Order: sequence, then structure tokens, then C-alpha cells
Amino acid sequence: MLPLSDVNALVCLLSVLCCGVRSAVISPTIDTSRYHNYNDMKALLETLAYNYQNLAKVYDIGTSVEGRKLYVIQISKNVNQRDLGEPRFKFVGNMHGNEAVGRELILYLAQYLLYNYGKDTLVTNLVDTTDIHLLPSMNPDGFEASFVGDCDGIQGRANANGLDLNRNFPDQFHPSTGAIQPETTAIMNWLKLNFVLSANFHGGALVANYPYDDSKQGYTQGFYSRSPDDAVFKELARTYANAHPTMHLGNSCGDNFPGGITNGAQWYEVAGGMQDYNYLHSNTFEITVEQSCCKYPPATELNQYWQDNKNSILDYISKVHIGIKGVISTTSGQAVIGAEVRVTGIDHVITSSDKGEYWRLLTPGWYTVTFSASGYAPVQTSVQVTSGPATVLNVTFNPTTRVGTVTRLRSRG
Ligand SMILES: *[C@@H]1O[C@H](CO)[C@@H](O)[C@H](O)[C@H]1NC(C)=O
Ligand SMILES: [Zn+2]
Repeated sequence: MLPLSDVNALVCLLSVLCCGVRSAVISPTIDTSRYHNYNDMKALLETLAYNYQNLAKVYDIGTSVEGRKLYVIQISKNVNQRDLGEPRFKFVGNMHGNEAVGRELILYLAQYLLYNYGKDTLVTNLVDTTDIHLLPSMNPDGFEASFVGDCDGIQGRANANGLDLNRNFPDQFHPSTGAIQPETTAIMNWLKLNFVLSANFHGGALVANYPYDDSKQGYTQGFYSRSPDDAVFKELARTYANAHPTMHLGNSCGDNFPGGITNGAQWYEVAGGMQDYNYLHSNTFEITVEQSCCKYPPATELNQYWQDNKNSILDYISKVHIGIKGVISTTSGQAVIGAEVRVTGIDHVITSSDKGEYWRLLTPGWYTVTFSASGYAPVQTSVQVTSGPATVLNVTFNPTTRVGTVTRLRSRG
């Protein structure tokens, strides 16, 4: 018998020779049979970018302690040209190098989006309307040092300097651990791209964990550390947990999490964590998803993890489109950069991008929103947010009168 790869090559060759376009119809499949080490991961990402040049691009955000690149694959329609108002989204995997499932799931997601673009409506809509950035491994050194089958261990958890990257970010309440590492710096710089929504993937439990991870009280277990956007974060965490066949039940891995979600600090305190940093130092909302009881399970289980998490992942990306959004400009059409968007009752400011765009995630309800920019009188409006796509509110500031005007789509009676 021919080896399988030869058969595939033959089928490919025949379909090209006989029918030309037929070959495009044969959908590539996602190989979930094995883990991708650093070289495999690099090769896969480069192949995808090569095969889908208009939809995918590979770049790196820096280098690990041992010199491995922190590769990102960016996926979006016309990947080199982001549309005005198109939000940026990211996933981060494998920050703890021995927590391997999320790393693979991100590689499967990249393939799933590209293989199903133009075929599956949800995938096509997401890729058309979202600028998706995927970092499969934030800690490639740790991954290379860890080993399959290690469910509860810590070998490979830290980076090559022995520091836990999820304790290494500047923190609002307590000192973080160690000098800031190259992997941490890479993320801090990456945040300047102005992502709207993010999640980072871990293993060792099954729960969607949301800010804050740290509290003023410090290491008091069970203290709920509420962020100003508690309602949005709960909604985001629930979105992930509810689309997962078992996470939402909340009783996996010997834990008890009502609804499969938890406030970070209420579970246990983390000072120097990445999700709090995202929220406090950028416009990005990030949650932390624990995806597997076993941190580095046998490869034979990977397909099941993908099946269990696929809908959660897609639903979660969709959430980048909730709330309100718009463009803030002057009457002469110039972008107003760094304008501040405030929602009454929520003590968290979102700022406008270098193109004047803003995205403000909100749960359904009525809100009072204030837009302010230096040199202008603040302008206020009330707005209804529904569970559907973001309500568009544009703001125009008049440089002569110093007054702003809010424009929106006419509401239907
Ligand atoms: C908001 O501004 C953008 C960019 O100029 C424009 O494409 C969009 O149609 C505007 N929407 C509303 C509701 O005014
Ligand atoms: Zn972890």
C-alpha cells in the first residue's frame, strides 16, 4: 500500500490535472494527532500564511530568553488593511509553558478559520469583520522544557529565567515577581496595537476566570475583587463557559465554580497577572480560561479538547462586537486621537485610537456616555445597548465652536 501522504499527493495531483478547480474544493483537515513543538509550530504558521496570503500573516512580538520567536498569526479579510472601525482581538496561549492544550487549540483555530472562510457563515463573518491576532505560545522555552503526560507538575511552567510570567506584570496593589522578562515586555508592547478583547489560555482546572486577579486585601482567599466592568467580564466569562459542554457545570477537576466562572481573586490571589494588566493599562478586556484538568494531556485527547472548546472560542471572539463603538473626528474630518469615552457608573476610561476609533464593550441596557477631548466641551448622550452588534455613535467636534455633536443611526420608533 502507498503511504497515506503519497495517496494524498496523488489525489491532489489528479484533481489538479483532471479538473483544475476541483483541488480547491478538497478541504484540508486539522491534524489533532500530535503536539506541535517550536519548529512544527513555526512551519505550520508559515505554511498557513503562504497558502492564505490575503487572509493570514505571521509576525513576531519579540524573542524569548532562549532566543525563540514569539510568533503571532494574524487573520482577517485583507489582512494587510484593517477597515476603519474593525476591532482587534487576540488570544494568548501557553504562558505557562507546561500548560499545552491552549497552545494547540490556537493552532487549530487558525486552521479552522482559514479552511472554513467562505464556506461557514460564522467563520466568514468573524474573519470579515475582526482583526484576529493569535499568539499560540507566549512561553516557547517553557514548552520545550515540559513533557507530555505531566498533569500537575511545574516543569516548564516558568520562563527560562525561572520566573512565572503570570506574576511578572506591573500590578496595581502589590509588587509583582522578578525583573520584567522579555516575554512580558513583548506583551506590554504588543498591547499598543489597541486590542478590544482578549483571552489567555491555561490548564490545570476548567473555569473562565475574570478580573481582578489581585485585591487590595492581599492574600485573603475568597475575597471578590470587583473591577468597574464586573458586568461585562461576567458576561464574557459566561459566554465561554456556557458554550462548553462541561465548563458551565462548574464541577470539574474537583472544583466548584457556579456557572463555570470565577472572579480571579475570589478563587486565589495573583499579583502581577496579565489579565489585570490588560484592563488597567490598555483598552483591552482580557479573561483567563482554564481549559483542562490535566496540564499536558496525551495527544490522543487533543481532538476532544478542540471539539469541547471550538464553540466557546468562536462565541468569545464574537463578543468583540458588543456595546457601543464609533469614530471621533473634527468637523473637517480629522481623527481625534486619545479622546476619552466614559460611561456613567463605570469607573473605567476607554480612549480613541490613532484613527479616532473607539470600542466600548457593554452588556445590554441604557447608558449615559460622555465623550471628551482636550480643547473641547465634553458631549454627553444616552444610548441603548442591545445584545446584538454594537450601537454606532460617532462624535464630531467643531474646532470653531469647541462643541461636539453625537451622530447615530436613526432609531426605529
Ligand atoms: C460613523 O463614522 C464612520 C466613519 O466615518 C462611518 O463609516 C459610519 O457610517 C458612521 N456611522 C454613523 C451612524 O454615523
Ligand atoms: Zn497557568
